[in-house]
Amino acid sequence: MVYFRGMKRILVGNWKNHPSSVEEARRILDGLRRSKAVYKRLSTIIAPPAPFLALVKEKASSLGALGVQDLSSTEGTATGEIGTDILKSFGVRAVILGHSERRQLGETSRLVAEKTAIAIKSGISPIVCVGESEHDAEGKYFEFLNEEIRSSLALVKKRDAGKIVLAYEPIWAIGKKAKDAMAPAEVGVMTVFIKKTLTELFGRKIAESIPVLYGGSVDSSNAEALAKSGVKGFLVGRASRVPKDFKLIAEALIYA
Ligand code: PGA
Repeated sequence: MVYFRGMKRILVGNWKNHPSSVEEARRILDGLRRSKAVYKRLSTIIAPPAPFLALVKEKASSLGALGVQDLSSTEGTATGEIGTDILKSFGVRAVILGHSERRQLGETSRLVAEKTAIAIKSGISPIVCVGESEHDAEGKYFEFLNEEIRSSLALVKKRDAGKIVLAYEPIWAIGKKAKDAMAPAEVGVMTVFIKKTLTELFGRKIAESIPVLYGGSVDSSNAEALAKSGVKGFLVGRASRVPKDFKLIAEALIYA
């Protein structure tokens, strides 16, 4: 599990439940491949819906690594679930866990913690998502975030903590226009707060080695400023399916 170690900044494309056809997925991948050299300068992950895994492996493994958006919480037989053995046989290197859209469907931090432990055990890097639904004036979101980080990472042993990636995705900033993304200065403040929480959990040295990503309406117009906010990289939804935008976001991470 070495994909996220080292100096390279991190760019994760979360395709969510898109695109709607395999032809369109192929078109996106052909577009991404044209900028292979750019993506190779980063730790790039493409996380498509599971039915597109084989296609992404075939077309995009030269520009980055394969990711998924969830994994099974059980290691036993379970209809409809996808376990780590299958994922690893496709070469999956990372898994997005606890995305707010999954939490809204009922996924609890306890379940996220269990899946994180399974991912670590299997050698797939967990990208654990946290984020408040509201940035209230009284600052209650700090408390919320502290608790969400602690409970989502509750089963991570200190010796494994360097294997996780934390993605900060304020729910209110997801899927909006660039102007509604979190302001870069605020992302900087939140990154420091997250590192402080990670320090309390795992100690300073390990906390420093845990990459913190920002996600929520990152696009080509705000990527440069956000890239300078103190985060190690981005978790990108919509713009990750638009090759020309994703390339500009990648370049912002490289040159910022
Ligand atoms: P967005 O999504 O970039 O479309 O806001 C980010 C995410 O939900 O991971």
